Amino acid sequence: MSDIKKRPVILDGDPGHDDAIAWVLAATCPEFDIKAITTVAGNQTLEKVTYNARRIAALLHLDIEVAKGRNRPLCGDLIIAPNFHGETGLDGPKLPEPHLPLSSLSAIEMMAKVLRESEEKVTIISTGAQTNTAALLIAHPELHEKIEMISTMGGGLRNGNWTAGAEFNILVDPEAAHIVAHSGLPVQMCGLDVTEKALVYPEEWDRIRALHNPVAEVVAGWFDFFFIHVSSLGWAGATTHDPCAVMSLVHPEIFDIRDYYVDIELNGKYTRGATVADFDNISGNKPNMRCVVGLNREKFVDYLVEACSRFEGWEI
Ligand code: BDR
Ligand code: CA
Repeated sequence: MSDIKKRPVILDGDPGHDDAIAWVLAATCPEFDIKAITTVAGNQTLEKVTYNARRIAALLHLDIEVAKGRNRPLCGDLIIAPNFHGETGLDGPKLPEPHLPLSSLSAIEMMAKVLRESEEKVTIISTGAQTNTAALLIAHPELHEKIEMISTMGGGLRNGNWTAGAEFNILVDPEAAHIVAHSGLPVQMCGLDVTEKALVYPEEWDRIRALHNPVAEVVAGWFDFFFIHVSSLGWAGATTHDPCAVMSLVHPEIFDIRDYYVDIELNGKYTRGATVADFDNISGNKPNMRCVVGLNREKFVDYLVEACSRFEGWEI
């Protein structure tokens, strides 16, 4: 494992059950060197998601201080999702208390520091609103060249999940998503096109529970909680959104990825926050996004189970 060239990554999200599962996956990837964990308001208030991020870091024994990001979108008011993630933003299994203090740096300062100090280009994995990333890009144009890729969970080329046209992460901060989309940097978008196909069924997270290690049991408990609301919407499995933004970097071969020019609707009365893809290249614009639109679901589940198996003998 030691001869694997590690890819420096920043985990930026709003945990949130699926963010948490994405971070479990990231923590087990020998390909990743996690340089920072940063939080952004979205699934719950900034205070709540930051506390959750610190408890996840403790669960995973990640010796990385969490840096608190923006508490609201660049424009307008914050939307939160307690119906999906509960009052704490991460209801369900009991978690250890934070093992490290909160970073004295803001998320944007932390991201800038990581980029400045890294010899390799850094990948930002954004599983919440893109507010921190957009603020970083605006504040530090000199650091754009240090970004390898921005891998996002957000949007949906064919549908939304919060309104008919908009997916939650983009709807929380459409202006931020617009800045990221037009940054000229490589952006990978795991939208609902793939994440609503990344279903994990109850009998499959029972495979995770059956691993009988403390992290696997917590992950199974997160699925249990998340599924309460998701199943009430008619889904037979848990829509495992955020882990796609991690897994598509590590196992791109199991995903269907296409380049499109995608814009973010900022004004529409019914369509604000929609991600509009120019499928037939009518505009003639060069593609600005690698859009992940499908996957081999069984392999996705197998990799998830395998990731959870790596915590055998873990103590929390
Ligand atoms: C996205 O919204 C949040 O509730 C999830 O954590 C995920 O990032 C799915 O639309
Ligand atoms: Ca999220």
